[in-house]
Amino acid sequence: MKKILFALCTGIIISAQAQNKKLPQLGKDPIEKIVAAMTLEEKATLLVGYQVSSDGANIIATAAGTTAPFERFGIPSTYMVDGPSGVRVDTIIPGSDKRLYCTGFPTATLLASTWDTQVLEAVGAAMGDELVEYGYDVLLAPALNIQRNPLCGRNFEYYSEDPLLSGKMTAAMVKGLQSKGGGATIKHFAANSQQSMRMFNDARISQRALREIYLKNFEIAVKESKPWSVMSSYNSLNGEHTQESPLLLTSLLRDEWGFEGIVVTDWGSPKETVTRIHAGNDLMMGGEPRQTQEIIEGVKNGTLSMADVDRNAKHVLKYILQTPSFKKYKASKNPDLKAHAQVSREAAAEGIVLLKNNSEALPLVKEDTIALFGVGSYYFYANGLGSADVNKPYVINMIQGLRNADVKTHPIVDDFYNKYLTAQEIQLKETNIPNWKNWFFGFKRPQEAIIEDFFIAHRAKDCSKAVITISRNAGEALDRENEEGDYLLTRGERELISNVSKIFHARGKKVIVVLNTGGAMDIASWADEVDGIVMAWQPGQEGGNAVADILTGKVNPSGKLPMTLAIDYYDIPSSKNFPQHWKFSWDELLRPGKEVMAKKDLGYTLYEEDIWVGYRHFNTFKKPVAFPFGYGLSYTTFEYGNAKLKKSKNSCIVTIDITNSGKVAGKEAVQLYSTAPKGKLEKPLRELKAFAKTKLLQPGETTTVTMTFQLSDLASFDESIMSWVANKGTYTLSIGASVEDIKASLSLDMKKSLIQKVPTKIQH
Ligand code: BGC
Repeated sequence: MKKILFALCTGIIISAQAQNKKLPQLGKDPIEKIVAAMTLEEKATLLVGYQVSSDGANIIATAAGTTAPFERFGIPSTYMVDGPSGVRVDTIIPGSDKRLYCTGFPTATLLASTWDTQVLEAVGAAMGDELVEYGYDVLLAPALNIQRNPLCGRNFEYYSEDPLLSGKMTAAMVKGLQSKGGGATIKHFAANSQQSMRMFNDARISQRALREIYLKNFEIAVKESKPWSVMSSYNSLNGEHTQESPLLLTSLLRDEWGFEGIVVTDWGSPKETVTRIHAGNDLMMGGEPRQTQEIIEGVKNGTLSMADVDRNAKHVLKYILQTPSFKKYKASKNPDLKAHAQVSREAAAEGIVLLKNNSEALPLVKEDTIALFGVGSYYFYANGLGSADVNKPYVINMIQGLRNADVKTHPIVDDFYNKYLTAQEIQLKETNIPNWKNWFFGFKRPQEAIIEDFFIAHRAKDCSKAVITISRNAGEALDRENEEGDYLLTRGERELISNVSKIFHARGKKVIVVLNTGGAMDIASWADEVDGIVMAWQPGQEGGNAVADILTGKVNPSGKLPMTLAIDYYDIPSSKNFPQHWKFSWDELLRPGKEVMAKKDLGYTLYEEDIWVGYRHFNTFKKPVAFPFGYGLSYTTFEYGNAKLKKSKNSCIVTIDITNSGKVAGKEAVQLYSTAPKGKLEKPLRELKAFAKTKLLQPGETTTVTMTFQLSDLASFDESIMSWVANKGTYTLSIGASVEDIKASLSLDMKKSLIQKVPTKIQH
């Protein structure tokens, strides 16, 4: 019987193989031939990517999505996984109790604060290595939307308020990542700068602001790094859902910018399948079987053309051809997490920003004993929430970081917080259970501890300095609030800062605040009370070590702000048009009624401030800020000199000598801004055109940095003629340490105006 079965089976296999031989095979035959040989059902299945259940016991079970296999054409499944701060592998190896982890890298905002594309390439390469070594094909990152307003819940995943910095950082990350053989997905295309009502909100933006700000970042990334994939966003844009817009996904992205990869939809968006396929989404993600059916029916009833299906199928097959899965790459499942932890730590230290350092409060000295206050010192955030959270092996908090660096902390303070947190955790145990709500919005965090003045007074006697850590977290689906405990300090935090400062200052001792936050927060209202402020962002799993590297001066801070920190939230132009006090209702989110959709900032958001985002507003209109764009201190000083400009037909090369004029080695992030001659359009006083970071300069050492840009980069977008225009005349090129700290200027004469018409208008 067995023999007969065997004979039957081999017969079936041989005849299937013989049949397959006649069919075109991926990699051997032209893609067009395969698409022509596929049935409509097969093509419709190819265009719907499936979400994998996360309760499986293999690595692939933690993929956020897959593409379907077609054995008869030699097409394997491919696997996509989140996200921006590391590969979200989260599983146990079958047959063992060994859990797999990925490295928790610093969040994007910190990475942008490095102003160093080499750091981004190194982080990208390490992530890319984990991606392919765990058996995935594509990372669902980086994310590069503009940080229009500090309250956007996803700002930590995004780089900057400036499109050039965002675009260049993304391009470097993509290059590093893709150098390892897997692919990157840049997301969320486009104008996804708000989370409230995230699947329905219509971002209403002028053509000029779109071109100069909200699309420019994507344009740079697409052209400079050729990402494998672009994720279309949840929101609408000027009246049309981005996923339903052929203008955005085909005319602009492919025809104008030359994108050649695949477009994947953001997960589970409640929009029409047929319209989305037509618009240019190649893969319906977070896909469901009903969508396959909808594609088949669409073709049969004429609402969807076969040409659209074939076009998208070709894109998907072209993508599969380059994947490690297709190339049968043998994943080791054992990437070098130790080496990557080092990459993470070094990147973190490069991006931490020293905001204030009065009377050399920092670096700490050998003799110091630190009173380490604040729940945040012990309950430290490596990264943000939602799909950008990572399953990292550990998180070094502040106390561990300081101890690892041999900094003496006061045992009574440490003991107090450890006991306080243990008691708090017992209380919070019942709310902090793993469920979808906590996954999105995070576990409830312990309140700041109340510390009596006499306790602080004792510590001021036997410690030489105080360090206080304030932590914040946020994530997708929810925006932050301009309220206590979020953008503002809680009463407990304020009191802690005030009381510690008063009591330590009475003894002539310094107080330093470390901010552990994914994005901007109010600093101006309390900054004067303390001597030092360190913006640590969310610095990844090695965070405490990286902060200690900065506090001790092992690493001289060289991070600079990728956004403006305002004095007051309402100084920010977009604060007039950003949701506030919208309490989350699940029902409203999934099924918003007419009433909700008619509400400003929920149903739609007016980008009324237009191009005047961040420093473009503050710097041009001379509005005071807490800390300007591009700002960051060092333990040394730098001199700028000998600025030169070399102009060729289409580009400009600016060089400048940077000398370390201080006493310790350090690096400087140098920025190049342009000021245009007066013309028809009102333009920002300064716009970032290029930047560079020096190597580590020893005291007295000089280096020449080079910054290059194209003459066409000087253009602004004139929507009345749908053209990029750079007027002839004299431009000022300002080289500075921040947008407000200009060290040298050069003149650039443009003899002829440049005008370049664009074909696509993103408007309905
Ligand atoms: C997020 C995406 C993410 C996807 C898959 C969505 O909720 O918006 O950024 O890649 O989920 O996890």
